[in-house]
Amino acid sequence: MSTTATETQQQQHQKDANANANPGLKLRANANVDERGQAVQEEYRYAHLLPHFSEDRYPPLTPFEHNDPGARALNHPNPRAFLDNATSIVELTPNLGTEVHGVDLRTLDSDGRDQLALEVARRGLMVFRDQADFIDAGPDFYLEWGRHFGRLHIHPTSGHPQNYPEIHLVYRDANSTFNFEIDDSITSTSWHSDVSYERQPPGLTTFFLIAQPSTGGDTLFTSQVSTLKKLSPQFVAFLRTLKAVHSGVEQANFSRSGKRGATVRREPVEHVHPLIRRHPVTGEEALYVNRQFTRRILGLKKEESETLLKFLYDHIDKSGDLQARVHWTPNTVVLWDNRITAHSAIVDYKDSKERRHGARITPQAERPIPALDGLSLDD
Ligand SMILES: [Fe+2]
Repeated sequence: MSTTATETQQQQHQKDANANANPGLKLRANANVDERGQAVQEEYRYAHLLPHFSEDRYPPLTPFEHNDPGARALNHPNPRAFLDNATSIVELTPNLGTEVHGVDLRTLDSDGRDQLALEVARRGLMVFRDQADFIDAGPDFYLEWGRHFGRLHIHPTSGHPQNYPEIHLVYRDANSTFNFEIDDSITSTSWHSDVSYERQPPGLTTFFLIAQPSTGGDTLFTSQVSTLKKLSPQFVAFLRTLKAVHSGVEQANFSRSGKRGATVRREPVEHVHPLIRRHPVTGEEALYVNRQFTRRILGLKKEESETLLKFLYDHIDKSGDLQARVHWTPNTVVLWDNRITAHSAIVDYKDSKERRHGARITPQAERPIPALDGLSLDD
């Protein structure tokens, strides 16, 4: 059945979100019901955003100068003016996350976007509900949106909408998954900061679901500013002197093993980052290691590095008192500052066979700034 004229956009989005792929259907079709209750197949509303895996090959990324949009907002007389029309602003937890109703991100001008970047830097995570116009604005808008915040990252292995390699997609349905998910673990929890192996990893990141399970598939976030603050000053002083290798090799090998579209479009890289980085705008220090991509601490013996990293990963794992959990309702857009937070998908909906389809807009930011002045990353 095609959408009736009286059906609201919200209802259509809810239906899209809940219209999950039947195991017997192709990727592009959804089960639906006509006026007589007969099952029919309907083109997936967001088929143009389904994952595509091209045979393109990309050269290595090159360094660039990042000018943080949040810094521009510091000079604004009211850096939170973009929230003036909000109908609801609720802090998800004291130190991480704000949920906003009544602000249409699609309408934010350049000033508003700068303010948004600053507020996300301060809160780590922001959740905006009722963003149908943003999501339906389409991939050309997503690019224009993201380029305001920095050079758009092109993922080396993930699926993207055809002709839009800058849009990173997550996708799972009854028949397939194109996510970086390790199956031989007792948990799907995998804390990470996105593509931290890059020399200039992402900063302000925008992510939204365009189809989602009826329940489950939430996303966990934790504050790496707060995890750091839990540690003793003496220990933090030691961590400030350290730097670690972050590697994209395992992620590339995952694709080379035949999973996730089985393509590696840019050769994997490894880069050295400080264990504690300083946010360029807020000046806050944040722990910057993650189990997914951090591999070893330079200058320490192997056992020392492994023990210290395991301690820090366990600390992040157990940071329930520092975490926020985003429950995805239709038309939600989430932004986080990838420099000062970590996150994990929750894959608890496999048995429902429902579709979960998300898109990420991922501007790169500065090379991580060591919290310790003078710490060289080049030796
Ligand atoms: Fe991620």
